[in-house]
Amino acid sequence: PLVLILWAVLGYLCGSVPFGLVITRTMGLADPRTIGSGNIGATNVLRTGSKAAGAATLILDAAKGAVAVVAARLFSAEDAVQVAALAAFVGHCYPVWLRFVGGKGVATFLGVLLGLIWPVGLLTCATWLAAVALTRVSSVGALIAAVLSSGWMLLLGRPDVLVVGVLMTLLMIWRHRQNIARLRAGTEPRLGERP
Ligand code: G3P
Repeated sequence: PLVLILWAVLGYLCGSVPFGLVITRTMGLADPRTIGSGNIGATNVLRTGSKAAGAATLILDAAKGAVAVVAARLFSAEDAVQVAALAAFVGHCYPVWLRFVGGKGVATFLGVLLGLIWPVGLLTCATWLAAVALTRVSSVGALIAAVLSSGWMLLLGRPDVLVVGVLMTLLMIWRHRQNIARLRAGTEPRLGERP
């Protein structure tokens, strides 16, 4: 139990680093909270006009998820790994440093899955890329990839990670509730456009 609490805290702290803000500040770009959807994730960082900043946010927000999982696996058993995975995801969505107003979890979800079970991570990344390419709407691609990730877990014979996967998926859907409202109203912007 103590080791689980430790990994919950470490995973949370790792996931709570808001790379979208760190990168835009370092590059002298607009604060993503003041533009577009107001989100700190890669999609909205892209709306600053910098593809490099968007890509860097995507990669680093994913990397922190993978790092939390891989670090836990190096030192602890599988239950601690799953706790670290979920905690990193929650840390990204609700970072203490930003008064718990964080991102929507897409990049961190991909990174966590890559760390947790890389074949599921790769298939989910491929699903996400294909869905974004087809729809040109970041939130739609993310939601499709998140929902289908559970299917990949079952197909690859990994029901042991299903609970963590479904919890992250549900939280991601909840974090996208404004996007879902915009999608229903037909006002959700395409990739690179501002809402
Ligand atoms: O990564 C979040 C994405 O799915 C939607 O971002 O800024 O359009 O709300 P945004």
